Amino acid sequence: MSEPFGVYVHIPFCSQRCDYCAFATWTDRHHLQGAYLRALRADIERSALGPVSSVFIGGGTPTLVDGAELASVLAALPVVPGAEVTVECNPDDVTPALFQTYAEAGVNRVSIGVQSLVPHVLASLGRTHDAANVAAAVAAVRSVGIPTFNLDLIYGGAGETLADWRTTLEGALELDPPHVSAYALTVEAGTPLAADTARHPDDDDLADKYELADDLLSAAGRPNYEVSNWAVPGHECRHNVLYWQQGDYVGFGSAAHSHRRGRRWWNVRTPERYIAAVEAGQPTEAAGEDLDLDAQRIEGLQLALRMRDGVPAGALDTEGLEGLVIADGERVRLTRSGRLLANEVSLRLR
Ligand SMILES: C[S@@+](CC[C@H](N)C(=O)[O-])C[C@H]1O[C@@H](n2cnc3c(N)ncnc32)[C@H](O)[C@@H]1O
Ligand code: SF4
Repeated sequence: MSEPFGVYVHIPFCSQRCDYCAFATWTDRHHLQGAYLRALRADIERSALGPVSSVFIGGGTPTLVDGAELASVLAALPVVPGAEVTVECNPDDVTPALFQTYAEAGVNRVSIGVQSLVPHVLASLGRTHDAANVAAAVAAVRSVGIPTFNLDLIYGGAGETLADWRTTLEGALELDPPHVSAYALTVEAGTPLAADTARHPDDDDLADKYELADDLLSAAGRPNYEVSNWAVPGHECRHNVLYWQQGDYVGFGSAAHSHRRGRRWWNVRTPERYIAAVEAGQPTEAAGEDLDLDAQRIEGLQLALRMRDGVPAGALDTEGLEGLVIADGERVRLTRSGRLLANEVSLRLR
């Protein structure tokens, strides 16, 4: 079998901007959608890719653009049989008809941006959906036979109590998701959230919420396999695992990142510039960098440390890290307390 090779496709449109979000997405450029999707198709076709083993269509909000047009972008990719093909969804956009279009196009996984199931937390995060939208989205996934899905959750929104977070976790588990990603709300520079310090999450509260998530998800048969990800065994996200194993992938669309054999590059940031570059037959790359072998090695260890299998025993100086790591002679792995301090432990990689 050939090496895994991933494709990321970025959809840079949202109906409204969440004030914690720093992703490259726009709410006032919907008129560009048609030209953007045409540019994606043309860019993919001219790239003459080899076999693709995973695809992730993310955003922004992929469910905002026309489903048949998105399907025609997917059709341009040389996807191998059995590949994982994921589309990121906002719960309030999706219908069984849209998912039927996706399923016919080969989409076999959706990732639903739930964030919370508690009304006042959703309101404080500025989200436009409610818990009923989430249940309807999951029912729609099942009704068209898309075989697996993820629920994205965020903890640490303003006013969220530990009991609220438990309500979200329990409500999510009632939907029987094969995969859950739970992210601590991150204060991203330049966002409205960054300017509003009263809403910044507290580290101790985030730690309590992480532990509650790990308790409930693990007890429900979804062990943790990467710091922020839990899955029923066999439902781990292959595309993300490819990133974390430093595999090769190419990103299409504005602001998309790529990595091939130690070289990283990223595309122009705005949809206008991306469309213009493709239409002119020019490269879409904005800039890139080559990682030397040592930088590649350390980065590989940093990513591996965040995963269940950890790093080779000699790669981490464990002195003083009691309680944060566990070693079995061959591998060193983070404990749950260690996962909360993964970045600090990473500083001891060698
Ligand atoms: C960029 S969004 C794209 C998907 C979709 N538009 C949505 O919001 O659900 C992907 C995921 O990133 C996470 N995310 C975005 N900004 C974040 C932040 N500041 N802190 C933590 N998670 C964040 C959310 O969980 C979200 O589901
Ligand atoms: S979090 Fe999702 S919906 Fe909100 S602005 Fe970012 S990409 Fe758009």
